[in-house]
Amino acid sequence: MTTPLRVLRLASSPRGADSESLRLSQRVLDGLAAQHGGRALELQDVDLNDLPHVDTAYAVALATPTASAQGEPGSTLQRSDALIRQLDEADVLLIATPMHNYTVPSALKSWVDHVVRVRVTFNGTPQGKVGLLRDRPVYVAVSSGGLISGEQARQPDFLRPYLQAALGTVGLHDLHFFCVEGTARGEQATADARLAAEAAISAFFSAA
Ligand SMILES: Cc1cc2nc3c(=O)[nH]c(=O)nc-3n(C[C@H](O)[C@H](O)[C@H](O)COP(=O)(O)O)c2cc1C
Repeated sequence: MTTPLRVLRLASSPRGADSESLRLSQRVLDGLAAQHGGRALELQDVDLNDLPHVDTAYAVALATPTASAQGEPGSTLQRSDALIRQLDEADVLLIATPMHNYTVPSALKSWVDHVVRVRVTFNGTPQGKVGLLRDRPVYVAVSSGGLISGEQARQPDFLRPYLQAALGTVGLHDLHFFCVEGTARGEQATADARLAAEAAISAFFSAA
């Protein structure tokens, strides 16, 4: 019997079930299910909006190589251990994220601060940072009010390069972005953007 494909989905929009990026991530799940035929998907859903910022003990532990990194119950260190374990156990990472001020929302940034952890998920070397996690596919469902691609984009996009760099630090290099762009441009524009994104997802998973 084949083991299920373990998918860890991170939701970072403050808009809950109405989130456009969450909706788009559902289409990615459909694509994954089609790509993997009869293999079951085991979905773990995590809403990042309740994730606190990292605390003092965490910052001290990261800055002090000799400190024993034991956290109190409920501390960032313990939460970080759990989030890293959860990430490590996944076969596929699926991130649903809106663009907030040209980059990821603070909830997703907080998750990055918990899992991109020196001496645990990457090592600093004279040649640069070397990731310690096993590489695996990462799908990112992005929603933005304005355009972020092509000649008509009138704003910078730090979201995609940021995630590429941050996740690359821990060894996750196989990132694929799908975007619904221009949700602030009205219902028709959003409907068109959804169709374009869904076509890109179908093409990707049927070719893969
Ligand atoms: C705090 C905040 C900042 C935003 N900043 C941007 C931005 O820089 N560029 C952009 O195109 N849209 C921006 N938007 C619009 C969202 O990206 C857009 O509404 C998106 O479709 C929301 O996706 P969601 O439903 O998954 O949250 C911002 C929205 C909020 C709430």
